[in-house]
Amino acid sequence: MRLDRFIANNTGLPRKEACLLIKQGRISCNNAVIQQTAFKVGADDLVELDGDTIKDPTHLYWMMNKAQGIVCANHDSEHPTVFDSIDKTAIHPALRQNLQVAGRLDKDTTGLVLITTDGQWNHTVTSPHKTIGKRYRVELAESITEEAILQIEAGIALRNEPQACKPAQISLFSPNSCLLTIHEGKYHQVKRMFAATNNRVVKLHREAIANIKLDTGLKPNAYRALTQDEIHCL
Ligand code: URA
Repeated sequence: MRLDRFIANNTGLPRKEACLLIKQGRISCNNAVIQQTAFKVGADDLVELDGDTIKDPTHLYWMMNKAQGIVCANHDSEHPTVFDSIDKTAIHPALRQNLQVAGRLDKDTTGLVLITTDGQWNHTVTSPHKTIGKRYRVELAESITEEAILQIEAGIALRNEPQACKPAQISLFSPNSCLLTIHEGKYHQVKRMFAATNNRVVKLHREAIANIKLDTGLKPNAYRALTQDEIHCL
């Protein structure tokens, strides 16, 4: 990679400023001052600015306990977004614009949201080709019928959807509340699954994605870094 691009990517500085630093003789590569902006940097090279190492900023992986009324979008003109709760000053400038939600929730759904700067990891969480379980606590307007349970467990067909859902697991708490684990992420999937059984979701809360369980100590809209085990469990 060109030296000016390497500096811009890893500091968040505009390319023009990176070029200036190089021309000013403030950048060294493997202890030799380099003043050519097009100099090629290798993966193992030590690049320094005024003697301080410039290295790849490491990716961020967080869980948030999303509150009701918050949207999982980068910008929204009407509603607060999950990113409004994040202290961006603590994030390396080169990573700030890469913050992304790995698996959105509806505005009225609460619970576990994963936020990362790592696009590949996001893809692992959300890829339709993976069968990662997402567990929801669901409250319904009507009692859940025996027939509805059988349909959901077999893979229920949704309106305007050519393919039925994958089989899901359901366990009842009460006649009108349950835990539901689904293995895909279709648009409004849980609400549409119960709508297909002539029922209506009145409260939806995501508790877990794979083995990443929402930390019950997190207040609404609070977030924390994932542990290495949580990052790698997918
Ligand atoms: N299914 C829904 O219907 N809504 C969500 O927010 C998540 C899953």
